[in-house]
Amino acid sequence: MKKILIVDDDTAHRTMLKVNLAGAGYEIVEADDGDRVLPILAEQDIDLILMDLKMQRMDGMEAIRLLREKGRPEPVIVITAFSSVESAVEAMKHGAMDYVTKPIDIEALKLVVAKALDFEALRTENQELKQRLGEQFDFGNIIGRSPAMQKVFETLSLVAPSDATVLITGESGTGKELIASALHQNSHRKEGPFIKVNCAALHENLLESELFGHEKGAFTGADSRRLGRFELADKGTLFLDEIGDMSLQTQAKILRVLQEGELERLGGNGTVKVDVRLVAATHKDLTAMVEEGTFRQDLFFRLSVVPIELPSLNKRTEDIPVLADFFLRRYAKKNKKDIKGFHPQALMLLARYPWPGNIRELENTVERAVILCLGEQITPKELPPQMLPKDFQLAGGPVPASGGLTLKDMEREAIRATLEQTKGNKSQAAKLLGIARQTLLNKIKEYGL
Ligand SMILES: Nc1ncnc2c1ncn2[C@@H]1O[C@H](COP(=O)(O)OP(=O)(O)OP(=O)(O)O)[C@@H](O)[C@H]1O
Ligand SMILES: [Mg+2]
Repeated sequence: MKKILIVDDDTAHRTMLKVNLAGAGYEIVEADDGDRVLPILAEQDIDLILMDLKMQRMDGMEAIRLLREKGRPEPVIVITAFSSVESAVEAMKHGAMDYVTKPIDIEALKLVVAKALDFEALRTENQELKQRLGEQFDFGNIIGRSPAMQKVFETLSLVAPSDATVLITGESGTGKELIASALHQNSHRKEGPFIKVNCAALHENLLESELFGHEKGAFTGADSRRLGRFELADKGTLFLDEIGDMSLQTQAKILRVLQEGELERLGGNGTVKVDVRLVAATHKDLTAMVEEGTFRQDLFFRLSVVPIELPSLNKRTEDIPVLADFFLRRYAKKNKKDIKGFHPQALMLLARYPWPGNIRELENTVERAVILCLGEQITPKELPPQMLPKDFQLAGGPVPASGGLTLKDMEREAIRATLEQTKGNKSQAAKLLGIARQTLLNKIKEYGL
């Protein structure tokens, strides 16, 4: 049984919390002030601390600071008045994991508590695993140097080795499937199957028989028993893609498998046990769907134990050149072409384009350019016409005109992109730009590059 320490100097409030959380199956320890926390932790194992911020002798903020100073790992959830959410944010900066506001919504509190405990279990499990195996992760085929992607890598290495359910969200083409398979490849289930189901592609009944399987004669046309994807994914990972496109009825059935680890085949009368790690993805806003009532809230919480949100490409433009380069190498090799890189103007156009189709569109664009390219560099000529400025002149050479840019802007951008391509090598950049090295040095200074 998980043990929660409730720290609150208001006895009535503390008792109310105690009764509700004890009712939810937790063991409760009480403290009437912040200065009691460390002595209690010295005596017993506590899994989670629920702490009021305003207290007589030692306030919550100070207590949290002390806990961190002493290197205590226990997660803390703070309780704060609705009117002072800033102090909760402040507490989180000091190391609190989450917060709830007064007056307390008990259901919300239970969710926050459950989530914090899940996360904590995951963290320790992962730490132990890492220590045991000297864990090595391989995310080599996922490119991203933007802070947003670095955060994704961090979460990935944290959760990959666990069995935690992961919900991946992001626009189309942002890499949801790639991340799902990386989770599998870097888990202890990697020798097991990775099974994918696209929930949007199948009609409700068909989807259910696909997921759960059916017995012979379950419906017209079911002329033999068929195992569902859940069973096929046993000891492995099941990837439910486009989970936002699933009927409420199917959602209820998935929830049951998640909660009980067992399912019934359609037309069957016994249950089947499955050992499956679930990873789900969607480009839809599930939170909004929960509010609309088209997605079950309980399933949403079950799925999003660990949420991973993939930013759209136009929110991480610094990844564009690296991704473009990565795809260039991949497709040059595949097509046996000796292409060295991008012409700075081509790179500039790639960097400026909004990429509604995200990374998939970038990948397709580069692949196409590689196929079209006859020289050693990809130039704007090999890019799709819609990416070129309106008055782009093919005859006059690859000069992408304006598009609202001044000549200076374009020059600056061309220099920046070229330097990026040559990884800072100025002589090489000057050569590519067709100017003297000294001229380049002057311009770098002028533009503050
Ligand atoms: N960070 C990345 N590094 C390298 N390649 C990537 C990255 N993200 C995506 N890709 C590639 O882009 C393509 C699209 O990715 P993926 O199919 O995973 O996107 P998705 O989010 O599942 O899209 P959709 O919602 O349309 O199904 C794939 O070829 C994938 O390998
Ligand atoms: Mg996909």
